Amino acid sequence: MDVVQLILFIFPAYAANAAPVLFAGRTPIDMGQQLGDKRRLFGKGKTIRGFIAGVAAGTLTGVILATFVPEFLIHVPFNDKLLFSFLLSLGAMTGDLIGSFVKRRWGMESGRESLVMDKILFAITALILAFPIYNGKIPLEAIDIIVLLILTFILHVAFNRIAHLLKLKKVPW
Ligand code: CTP
Ligand code: MG
Repeated sequence: MDVVQLILFIFPAYAANAAPVLFAGRTPIDMGQQLGDKRRLFGKGKTIRGFIAGVAAGTLTGVILATFVPEFLIHVPFNDKLLFSFLLSLGAMTGDLIGSFVKRRWGMESGRESLVMDKILFAITALILAFPIYNGKIPLEAIDIIVLLILTFILHVAFNRIAHLLKLKKVPW
């Protein structure tokens, strides 16, 4: 798959990952709960509203792509494109939570930077959760996944810097 096809393919996950920055809530998913290490389960940065906004934004992005961009998941039925977008978004937000969980266990404060947990994990979990939908229908090879993860890393760095310059994010990562 070429780079444009790859980015189109993963795009709902990007939308999901970006939305919580704009639609952050107050109530944290972990409700302030701590584990035995006296650290939060996920931390104050992971809110219920942010999670729901991420899944909704990613799914909505998929609806728009499925309706207006024929190259998005070409040869996949329309309803499966929507289901794909939903699962991809749910996977992205779940990976985001797993990343926070790991960061807290490593003793990192909320908002601290982790290259893998912040910038790559969400794409991996998104691809895993949506796998049953695109498996056998989209010719995603090992090299495509590697290119996709590298692209995701670069785009994540770029967009978070822009979001910081626009004062949407406190930190540039
Ligand atoms: N956000 C949210 N709900 C989520 C994910 C993110 O409200 N489920 C919002 C929060 O305002 C968060 C911001 O988006 O501070 C940036 O998200 P992110 O960088 O993923 O989280 P961090 O605050 O850096 O927390 P962590 O260290 O746990 O990754
Ligand atoms: Mg962060």
